[in-house]
Amino acid sequence: MEKRQKIYEGKAKILYTTDDPGLLIQYFKDDATAFNAQKKGTIAEKGIMNNRIATKIFEYLGREGVKTHFVKLLSDREMLVKRVEIVPVEVIVRNRAAGSLCRMLALPEGLELDGPTLEFCYKKDELGDPLINEYHIRALKIATDEEVGKITKMAFGINEALKKFFLKLNIELIDFKLEFGRHQGHIILADEISPDTCRLWEVGTGKKLDKDRFRRDMGNIEEAYQEVLRRVTR
Ligand code: TMP
Ligand code: ASP
Repeated sequence: MEKRQKIYEGKAKILYTTDDPGLLIQYFKDDATAFNAQKKGTIAEKGIMNNRIATKIFEYLGREGVKTHFVKLLSDREMLVKRVEIVPVEVIVRNRAAGSLCRMLALPEGLELDGPTLEFCYKKDELGDPLINEYHIRALKIATDEEVGKITKMAFGINEALKKFFLKLNIELIDFKLEFGRHQGHIILADEISPDTCRLWEVGTGKKLDKDRFRRDMGNIEEAYQEVLRRVTR
């Protein structure tokens, strides 16, 4: 698959066109940011690890019946994906309180939630990705009600599938972020799922195996990603 031109560069990935107009190459960088890019750094080999981890997760979700943009792994840092129109909403599912939910509601980290929660954040860097609800999404024509319904159903379904997937690896899925895209009139899962976009705690020890180690300067970041990769590929 021939790589043509760069069409988008985000904080952690780059998208390139290919000789097929329906397909893009998603390239994973080592760059890491946090708190809306106020904190910047690199995590050695992160791109390689996240590309492999995201591949394993997309393959698993595909087997579970989830429609995703993933086509195939191409190289160390590249996967082939379907070209979609991204819905500019970050969809966050939480099983335990952590991160911004703890800050917003003064909750203790790790508090078990009585059933999973769902949040939408408007993807607008200049605003710091503000929390919005389905009325804002409708009022601003960000997505149709039908799309929001589909996204909600898919997000909770993906949560159930991923909780099961990680539990088998002795990892608890605390929360995660998804992005969806429009593809041939349907909503499909896009972007990536990796330790950059999930909170993953080792069962028993509570050890953090995700980007919180970078956000909070906890050290052993590469080792944590490596550990997730080792478990998902074993
Ligand atoms: P939060 O607690 O900071 O809102 O994050 C919730 C989850 O979403 C966590 O697993 C990290 C992930 N996330 C992203 O992938 N990208 C983002 O820009 C943000 C804010 C969170
Ligand atoms: N990646 C996001 C940023 O740069 C936030 C995060 O993951 O904490 O700000």
